[in-house]
Amino acid sequence: MSQVPPPLPGPLPRHVAIIMDGNGRWAQLRRRPRMIGHRAGARAVNRTIDRCLELGIPALTLFAFSSENWGRPAEEVEALMKLFLHALEREVDELHRRGVRVRFVGQRERFGPALLARMQAAEQRTQGNALMTLSIAASYGGRQDIAHAARMLASEVAAGRLQPEQIDETLLGRYVALADLPAPDLFIRTGGDTRISNFLLWQLAYTELWFTEVLWPDFDAAQLQRALDAYTGRERRFGLTSAQIAALATETPTP
Ligand code: FPP
Repeated sequence: MSQVPPPLPGPLPRHVAIIMDGNGRWAQLRRRPRMIGHRAGARAVNRTIDRCLELGIPALTLFAFSSENWGRPAEEVEALMKLFLHALEREVDELHRRGVRVRFVGQRERFGPALLARMQAAEQRTQGNALMTLSIAASYGGRQDIAHAARMLASEVAAGRLQPEQIDETLLGRYVALADLPAPDLFIRTGGDTRISNFLLWQLAYTELWFTEVLWPDFDAAQLQRALDAYTGRERRFGLTSAQIAALATETPTP
């Protein structure tokens, strides 16, 4: 079966997804507790949102807490939860004022009631905003995301509403997280490791990957620009040939 390639993106990514790694090492380098690194990381989050808004990037997804991060020492998990709670209390008004739609992806039922209530309130308050969608992946795992989609489809089959033969990539893709957004065009990971670490496994199939040694708290507009420049220089073929992509570029106006 021939796949229709997705519309060619323009020079700016429509969706950037980031693994914000290196907070702990940033603090250790300064002989400070790891939480100091996470707090500095929260400031880098604000800078990155600001810059994406200035540039007109319409979707930003941040990996704040993985399904595996629950295994960290209890005091770090607890302090991170407090940091998330305070960040939400502090930032949501401003994000709303600036036209940002905030929402969370992941197993949110694992969070405590106070944080859960804040998350829901932030989503409800900002749901009508259209300038940028900020998705925070929290208690998120890519495999868990795909397993959840498979479970949803299985229950549709069990209820007789779906035939197994009807299940294809397009249908499964409607049940994974972020299904309402274009797939990330650009993935950034800070902190020097060159892996995906169970982030958006399904959604990153054709995403351009960019890695940097820079630790997340040091990530700034100049670093983002380096990633964007690298992205602009890439040829995205989606499994086609260069000639086909060139022909598509002249046929299809960039959305
Ligand atoms: C990874 O660094 C970072 C995290 C597990 C937490 C990310 C949290 C923030 C950036 C803070 C605020 C976020 C929001 C959305 C308000 P690490 O601890 O694994 O660093 P290391 O690899 O150097 O130990």
